[in-house]
Amino acid sequence: MCGIVGYVGANADERALNVVMEGLARLEYRGYDSAGVALVGGDRVVTAKKAGKLANLRDELGARPLSGSSTGIGHTRWATHGGPTDENAHPHRGGTDDKFALIHNGIIENFHALRGELAAEGVVFESETDTEVVAHLLARAFDGDLTRTMQRVVERLEGAFTLLAVHSDQPGVVVGARRNSPLVVGLGEGENFLGSDVAAFIGYTREAMELEQDQIVTITPEGATVINFDGSPAEGKRYHVDWDAAAAEKGGYDTFMEKEINEQPQAVGDTLLGRTDAEGRLTLDELRISEERLQDVSRIVFVACGTAAYAGMVAKYAIEHWTRIPVEVALAHEFRYCDPIIDERTLVVSISQSGETMDTLMAVKHARELGALTISICNTHGSTIPRESDAVLYTHAGPEIAVASTKAFLAQITASYVLGLYLTQLRGQTYADDAQEVLAELHGIPAKIEAVLGGMDRVREIARFMVDTRSVLFLGRNVGYPIAMEGALKLKELAYIHAEGFAAGELKHGPIALIEPGQPVFIVVPSPDTPHGLHGKVVSNIQEIRARGARTLVIAEEGDDSVQPFADEVIYVPSTSTMLAPLLTVVPLQVFALELSTGKGLDVDQPRNLAKSVTVE
Ligand code: G6P
Repeated sequence: MCGIVGYVGANADERALNVVMEGLARLEYRGYDSAGVALVGGDRVVTAKKAGKLANLRDELGARPLSGSSTGIGHTRWATHGGPTDENAHPHRGGTDDKFALIHNGIIENFHALRGELAAEGVVFESETDTEVVAHLLARAFDGDLTRTMQRVVERLEGAFTLLAVHSDQPGVVVGARRNSPLVVGLGEGENFLGSDVAAFIGYTREAMELEQDQIVTITPEGATVINFDGSPAEGKRYHVDWDAAAAEKGGYDTFMEKEINEQPQAVGDTLLGRTDAEGRLTLDELRISEERLQDVSRIVFVACGTAAYAGMVAKYAIEHWTRIPVEVALAHEFRYCDPIIDERTLVVSISQSGETMDTLMAVKHARELGALTISICNTHGSTIPRESDAVLYTHAGPEIAVASTKAFLAQITASYVLGLYLTQLRGQTYADDAQEVLAELHGIPAKIEAVLGGMDRVREIARFMVDTRSVLFLGRNVGYPIAMEGALKLKELAYIHAEGFAAGELKHGPIALIEPGQPVFIVVPSPDTPHGLHGKVVSNIQEIRARGARTLVIAEEGDDSVQPFADEVIYVPSTSTMLAPLLTVVPLQVFALELSTGKGLDVDQPRNLAKSVTVE
């Protein structure tokens, strides 16, 4: 949600602009309502900004090139305050014609009051943004030292923000500040970088530095200095990024989404890597939580949003089954407001690819205030949610660039299973003996996903035939239910088609009224080995809708012939135990949504109105 880049180098040439533009291209997944840059040149700050995708800014720069500079900032926007127009695009200059520029990610919650105050002093605003208010405050307060000025101004701000500012009286300096929004430092040689995440500068350096909440960083070509908002000196935590620029590129695929779907076997495999000992038992020392504390957990609550919440729903079925600990799943944005019942024996597990989703972050903070033990399942090192949690279990999906989540989803489910199996192992309950067996089976999942991916031609054909479809329903039961929801979400996000996921058993209680001749319905069928006759129940559900004219698209386990008579199409996935099946059954649904979106000529990687990392509540 808004991407931010900052750069300072030693030479006034094209590099600053190139670094900033390349960084914006890598961060565009965070928002693409507008883009803009500011460069410090001579005794001026020059800017260019344009509504729409980065390509529009590129055209603008082609028509009106900026001169060489050693210092620059850039912004790609997901609109909150004020529509996606040129005027509302960042940078904002705060009334100074050409000496100062500011970019911002987040929301200044007290901006109305501040705007009123400034307006009373005669300030005229050019945009509708909350950012411009801060720009005026900074520009007016500037005393020759941008860091000190920033420190004075942030005291007045409420809400969430990352701010980057430049001033032509201090060329060769970029000052950044963060509260509840992401900002990382990239450390180069004779040049330094700032970014919303490391993707912004991964083409130039893999040495990075984390910032804590409420800190200000000043970068120059020589280094990066950090202070707290109260002015006291601070040390950023340095780390080496374990992936390189190639991982953040398309690598021969047409879209990031296609690449990421194909990387899923590796995402699952890498998430399992290094987490078992020689005897095949899980070792999660990385959590640094005592075994006693985990043994004492009496309840688990998953908090997450979007796709990550569906990973939590899958985890609920599996973890309750394995550990016999009650598990709940809460949408993070609802969690805080439903007066949750939490105590020290509650384990709150957040799931977030980005580690920056504000709703999830706030849920975690709230859970901690209530005394819960908090574990973050996260894909992004150095992000905020892991830092605000007691412990983190990283997924190793690598960078996920496409806005709609795919490989991170599989990695999140895998990490949740790892956590669930670890608890099972620790607590020695009913399924403790089975835990190792499940784990061994989990290690075989990447090859099975590979097999699913290798057999997707028919799914692509079906999708191509359906480009004019206006509505698709998805049904599943047990772990197939969240997969139905995820299948529907993928289709909404990627192909803008009305789609709904239902628990198959619920259909007859209302939604079956939606079925009319030709209505396409995907049904995720559990393995015939699933206990309690669940398979038979789902097959009955297929018959019920087929009898009413639905076009049934069935996802079933290889060898399950019983679905054939009631299916217009069957997509088979390899056999696996019920709890692990989501890692296979979701794949055809992802491919279907991708293909349908491509068939409609839509932007698969950057669907309209969305942003990958939603850093506002
Ligand atoms: C946004 C994205 C979704 C994602 C959700 C949670 O809504 O568009 O694809 O599932 O955020 O993101 P997180 O980074 O917390 O997993």
